[in-house]
Amino acid sequence: MSVVCASHARHPFLLLLLRRLPRVGSPGPSPAMRRSYSLDASAPLLRTRAYVDGRWVSAASAFPVLDPATGQEIARVSDCGPAEAKRAVDAAYRASPSWKRATAKERSVLLRKWFDLLTRHKEDLAKLVTFESGKPMKESESEIAYAASFLEWFSEEARRVYGDVVPSPLRDRKIFLLKQPVGVASIITPWNFPSAMITRKVGAALAAGCTVVVKPAEDTPLSALALAELAEQAGIPAGVFNVVPCSREKTPAVGQVLCTDPLVAKISFTGSTATGKVLLKMAADTVKKASMELGGHAPFIVFDSADVDRAVSGAMASKFRNSGQACVCSNRFLVQSGIYERFVDKLGRAMDAELRLGHGADPGTTQGPLINQRAADKVLQQVSDAVSRGATVLRGGKRLHGSFVEPTLLVDVTTDMLCTKEETFGPLLPVIRFSTEEEALTVANDSNVGLAGYVYSQDVSQMWRVSELLEVGIVGVNEGLLSTPEAAFGGVKESGLGSEGSRYGIDEYLELKYMCLGNLQP
Ligand code: SIN
Repeated sequence: MSVVCASHARHPFLLLLLRRLPRVGSPGPSPAMRRSYSLDASAPLLRTRAYVDGRWVSAASAFPVLDPATGQEIARVSDCGPAEAKRAVDAAYRASPSWKRATAKERSVLLRKWFDLLTRHKEDLAKLVTFESGKPMKESESEIAYAASFLEWFSEEARRVYGDVVPSPLRDRKIFLLKQPVGVASIITPWNFPSAMITRKVGAALAAGCTVVVKPAEDTPLSALALAELAEQAGIPAGVFNVVPCSREKTPAVGQVLCTDPLVAKISFTGSTATGKVLLKMAADTVKKASMELGGHAPFIVFDSADVDRAVSGAMASKFRNSGQACVCSNRFLVQSGIYERFVDKLGRAMDAELRLGHGADPGTTQGPLINQRAADKVLQQVSDAVSRGATVLRGGKRLHGSFVEPTLLVDVTTDMLCTKEETFGPLLPVIRFSTEEEALTVANDSNVGLAGYVYSQDVSQMWRVSELLEVGIVGVNEGLLSTPEAAFGGVKESGLGSEGSRYGIDEYLELKYMCLGNLQP
């Protein structure tokens, strides 16, 4: 299978729309936003109960899942509390010995079957992603391909967990380093990639021989439950993969069980840095292993030598993927003086031509709503702060209705503005002018987080130099979309701990055991 990106490479769907799109920042909702779309209650993979120990179980109450584009309820899902979470942990613990003992090949075959089922049901799964997260269908389809690719990748990696035979300093001893599964893993996932962030973790965990309890984001439990249905169909044994959905209100108590129960050996979380720190503190008492994929504040640096068209298309892809709601999205655009005017002009025109707001289910939509009003408020607050400090709005800048925010281009941005200090997680593109490479690096690295960074230049020495000096875990050089299961995904500083995907992702679910075979006859 070819490389699968979370968004279609080069966004062919954006290009298809060039002819019929209204300009961004048009004064009212587009016809697509006024039309109503609904998720069929008999959607094939719509499941609303928790999945624990191979059974679909109801909780005492249910919570609503809303379509962020309309605010309408699309389903009511079992609202698990600490009791259900504990039951799931116990089930995962009971399932652990036999899953551990299964051969790597047996685990690999089941993961491959799960991959095949995701691929077969990609449209139904994509629809769930769109209705619960607001993502345009084309991006949801890409997400399902991306999600499936982790199951495929880790079905292959399952068979390559090699230990070491180490040369011994003593003649009568042999030294072996064995790799063994850590045990039960708690997996806590976000709403912005409701399917792929589960498979990126669970693919690695199951391949390694761990069993898991997944707590999906409160806004997006349906994708997780659909994955459970397909896991069951694939023949993943009871207790190996458990899903405990819950409301915002129950999240702290469920999180507490998942991060403190002594039967849990490992936690893996994707989400904000603030929440990651809370979970890490909870996990510290029982010294659990932890993987954290936390916030970013990606710089996107365009040097004078850059190919301006390439830089514009990279900026569009990197900024407007999922309406800016990805932690690898570019957050600060640093553009060198010599190319600044051309870049800004072309970028504004690309935004006019390529972006169209609407319900994700409308095939013409490229920009869905933000996940909720709070997310929209944050973007608008950053815009008004920037304007009050001297920035100019070249495109957008307004909320249309609900959590729909116009893709926004800000220029004359300076580093005292809020949008250059904190992650936006929305369709705001602030451009800062710089003169020297040193200045760009100083601004880019002036952050407590370091997930992704992007560099556009045609000077090979500069590409290397800047890539090495950027304090991030992922660098795109002349490329705005980087995600793929073959590569390591992870940040430095407060962007997290550990890596996902790649040949290293499985190590997060393994521990090394030193075995000494002694007193041998030389
Ligand atoms: C994220 O935003 O957390 C994930 C994005 C990706 O995997 O590309």
